[in-house]
Amino acid sequence: MIVTIDGPAGSGKSSVARQLANRLGFQFLDSGAMYRAVAWFAVKNRVNLDDESAVMNALEGFDMTINGERVVVGGRNVSSEIRSPELAQQSSIVAALPRVREYLVIRQREIAAAGNFVCEGRDQGTIVFPKAERKFFLTAAPEIRARRRWLELRRIRPDLELDHVIAEQKIRDLRDETRVTGRLVKADDAIEIRVDHLSLNQLVDELERQVREVGLNT
Ligand code: DC
Repeated sequence: MIVTIDGPAGSGKSSVARQLANRLGFQFLDSGAMYRAVAWFAVKNRVNLDDESAVMNALEGFDMTINGERVVVGGRNVSSEIRSPELAQQSSIVAALPRVREYLVIRQREIAAAGNFVCEGRDQGTIVFPKAERKFFLTAAPEIRARRRWLELRRIRPDLELDHVIAEQKIRDLRDETRVTGRLVKADDAIEIRVDHLSLNQLVDELERQVREVGLNT
């Protein structure tokens, strides 16, 4: 069974997906971490991130495993490194490259074929798993999303300013909403949930209820 959770940066998808998967006894797939890992690898190999052919050539040597929050590239655990604000921007650049998306979509489907998954990202319910049994689309006001990311990032970057996070989020939102393939858009059959005034627990309760309603088709 596949459950998808899509939504913009900072809508809380990762925490929700992780906890929902836990409650259901499913695995979870953070597809954004895969775009981040590709960007990390391209940067390490000094590849121009806008150059699709160069990124694709570099990916011939890309050896990535992802298991929940643990992301390993070429034997190196990059789980924390890929969470930096720089990698957030860089991943949003490689995520606009159609061939990179094609490559990662195939990998996402391969991973999820192995069992029951909660998959989160931008295009999980539209492109990657159009037949998912339950789809969610989370939305929240931009200021709330930015504040959430700022509070998270301040743990690793105490000097980071909220205004900076707001400005960077705007750029990422625009890229997410305007790229040619895998644009951030709600699937017709996704349930839209506005998360602004819900605690994480309330949100997970609601999603769990909605999934159990269709039945745990495992
Ligand atoms: O969710 P995130 O911030 O970790 O995602 C990192 C980048 O990857 C973000 O800029 C959007 C992009 N992304 C995507 O294009 N498609 C997905 N399914 C997941 C993430």
